[in-house]
Amino acid sequence: MCGIVGYIGDREAYPIIHDALKRLEYRGYDSYGFATLDKEAIHIEKGMGKISEAEIGRLPGMVAVGHSRWATHGGVTKRNAHPHTDCSGRIAVVHNGIIENFQELRKELEERGHVFKSETDTEIIPHLIEENISWGLEEAVIKAVQRLKGRYAIAVIRAGEERLVGVRRGSPLIVGKGKSETFIASDIPAFLKHTNKVMYLDDNEMIVADGKAKFFNVETGEPVRKRLITIDWDAKQAEKGDYPHFMLKEIMEQKDTIIRAINQNEEAILKTAEEIKRAHGTFFTGCGTAGKVCMAGEYIFSRVANKHVNFVVSSEFPNYNHFLTDKTLLVTISQSGETADVMEAVEAARKAGVRVISLVNVMGSSLHRNSDYTFLINAGPEKAVASTKATTSQLALVTLLAYAVTGRLEEGKRLLMETASKVNDMLNPRYEARITRLARKLRNSRDVYIIGRSLNYPMALESAIKIMEVSYIHAQGFAGGELKHGPLALIGGGTPCIVLVANDENRDDIISNAMEIKARGGYVIGVSPENNDAFDYWLRVPDVGNASPIVNIIPIQILAYHLAVLRGYDPDYPRNLAKSVVVK
Ligand code: BG6
Repeated sequence: MCGIVGYIGDREAYPIIHDALKRLEYRGYDSYGFATLDKEAIHIEKGMGKISEAEIGRLPGMVAVGHSRWATHGGVTKRNAHPHTDCSGRIAVVHNGIIENFQELRKELEERGHVFKSETDTEIIPHLIEENISWGLEEAVIKAVQRLKGRYAIAVIRAGEERLVGVRRGSPLIVGKGKSETFIASDIPAFLKHTNKVMYLDDNEMIVADGKAKFFNVETGEPVRKRLITIDWDAKQAEKGDYPHFMLKEIMEQKDTIIRAINQNEEAILKTAEEIKRAHGTFFTGCGTAGKVCMAGEYIFSRVANKHVNFVVSSEFPNYNHFLTDKTLLVTISQSGETADVMEAVEAARKAGVRVISLVNVMGSSLHRNSDYTFLINAGPEKAVASTKATTSQLALVTLLAYAVTGRLEEGKRLLMETASKVNDMLNPRYEARITRLARKLRNSRDVYIIGRSLNYPMALESAIKIMEVSYIHAQGFAGGELKHGPLALIGGGTPCIVLVANDENRDDIISNAMEIKARGGYVIGVSPENNDAFDYWLRVPDVGNASPIVNIIPIQILAYHLAVLRGYDPDYPRNLAKSVVVK
């Protein structure tokens, strides 16, 4: 995913766009670019890497678009950086998403004499607009997007027209309404310091801003009315504050976020519990870390609610579409609410008449607006690419729903309140120092293995993701019982192995697995309520029963963070990754 922004108003646009792109950097940091409009001329500046590390330049004009890139089509080069223009250089476009039919459209346009300068899918858009420009900019944009297949959000400006045009289908595009200025962006932090009055574009909608904002449906051409919403969080929440990195700030915010996650409308919880009980098959689906929470959901519902739910990772969900009926229930989990594979699963479910319940962090996101009911997890902006606070908030809400299914909502609430206060105690400098010492020991490791059983098997898999995505150490999670069927062959002198333990009926078995690792010379790190001789290094966690996945993943988040920092990597912007992936 990339970050796109646009501005039209009575202030110089360049510094506003520059600052907005810095605030959207977590969406892509391969390259960046600006196009400003000054009367008859379009001025373009592009650069490589992170905009926050680039010299701020100056381009004239009070209308502009900007882009921060996460490369999908075309290498990480200046030529492929956005904005892209048409043959005349008078139409500039920035784009977030993927145009699936770009090759055939490019071929057609080249046969019509258009000359392309980049390898991107995006560049066909300004050339398509150029093809129809005799209809005027708005109509030309509508005709262009009607030819596109895929998911996208675009912002367009044209020399000689004091106007900003934006269109969304599949990728997020939000409008910020100022007194005499209009902002458009992929996400709210881009313009929150200027205004907290926002309007969300729905799929196939276009905004035309020229001092005032008008909205149209690009399929019918009909005008549409948009609801103005006031955002209740401030720009500071989306900043690092005194923390060196967003990842550490967001880990430490778990002191408050777990409580906020379970502070839900009780009626909605009970109604959803009823729906899960009545459904003929409930699927939990998500990607990446959210996918691991869905997998833990399968274990938590089996254990707490004696209810079988099916976890399916969203990119594989099409293999299950034929099981969907109007009696099936789909529960989707996504921090951003924009992940393409999750949205595809929702579209398939919708077609089959399936009810969709979602757990989402970003209000107004595609998933929020395309679900029958959405539980907002209220974790606040999560900007580090590696998801941390959203994970434990999602786990808390899934656990609460499981307790509600068996009519033990109050018991579930008590357990999670107790867990939240124990997490508050855990997150202290002494505990962090103990984990930093471990990170120093492991910093030059080539491989790290993690094992867990039952509820903690999915957390072993999530632990591997955390370590890999920010420290680039190869890490792999296994079910404790699978160790002897292959992975044990990888264990030798000092191989670090993390063992996730909970005080439940699996405790003895997972400790035996730890012993087996030790017997092969592995270096055993025990994440456990109690210490044990099998452990070479012990990370104490509180004993919170069925909420153990919440407390067991937090020390791993902190470990991954310090491994990244000690190895000289930026934990907030891991290479090749993006905060949410709006491409399949
Ligand atoms: C990845 C993020 O790209 O997408 C992960 O780096 C995240 O942290 C995954 O878990 C799924 O994202 P989301 O927004 O759907 O939870």
